[in-house]
Amino acid sequence: MPAVLAIAIVSTSVFCCACNDKKTIGSTGNVTWTAPSKASENLQSEPSETTPVETPTPTPSPEPTETPTPSPSPTPVPEYVEPIIEGGPVWYSGYVDPRSVRAEVVSNPEDIAVLVNKYYTTTAEYVPELVWAKYSANQQLRPEAATAWEQMHDACLADIGEDLYLISGYRSWATQTASFNNAIPRRGLDKAVCKNAYPGRSEHPLGLALDINIRSDPEIRDNFVYTKAGEWVLEHGHEYGFIWRYPKDYGHITGYGVEGWHFRYVGVDVATEMYDNNIMTLEEYYGKPQILPDDYNE
Ligand code: DAL
Ligand code: ZN
Repeated sequence: MPAVLAIAIVSTSVFCCACNDKKTIGSTGNVTWTAPSKASENLQSEPSETTPVETPTPTPSPEPTETPTPSPSPTPVPEYVEPIIEGGPVWYSGYVDPRSVRAEVVSNPEDIAVLVNKYYTTTAEYVPELVWAKYSANQQLRPEAATAWEQMHDACLADIGEDLYLISGYRSWATQTASFNNAIPRRGLDKAVCKNAYPGRSEHPLGLALDINIRSDPEIRDNFVYTKAGEWVLEHGHEYGFIWRYPKDYGHITGYGVEGWHFRYVGVDVATEMYDNNIMTLEEYYGKPQILPDDYNE
């Protein structure tokens, strides 16, 4: 009788609880079964010489099938909006005129963490799903942003008694166009390109941007982030998926001057990752700060 049977199994060492025989499962995947001791051997009946042994019918091994090679999906070709002011980017006091840069059309405007700035644009055709936002001056937001806004508002009220208020949420293409065009004669070209987004280059038409303050002061204010409510939002906004979008001293990266009132919903995961790693801008998060000219001087 053979002393050792080899069976393929995983690597470990166990005892067979029924008979105390040791099975060693080696790293090669073989199981060696040490022959039983004399005492246990005696309990077993030897098959007689004449007992017919059934020959096992071998299971046919399946025919190998060819693994289909997946056809590579084509890399999307980016589309661009060409500048209407030719001759290369034109800078005013450290801020580029968005009309003088070639902007890539974002292929994923539905992505809640999409990067939109002077160099990444949406199109007039893109209109997100919108709902009316609570705690607002009749403003609309993307549903995800509206829910997160409500939750953040309620948490802030419960925590420090401040009643956050949404002044401006979704803006249509037409409203954004009017805002940019009116800003030029009203505040001058250098201020306009610093603070007002050209249509397509604003996050407001995504339904994911929120200009906020508190209900008792429903105006946009640069010092909001230094108020009790603003400091709370800076500390807790990421827990609800919000980031401060245009921090002070980051205009050379974002392309926009400081806006103490403008927050962006990007979702809890991205906002928390940015908060935990002290990443101040979405441009840095994506490794896409704006490209500065050699003689840049803010
Ligand atoms: N003020 C910001 C840049 C906007 O108009 O979207
Ligand atoms: Zn804004």
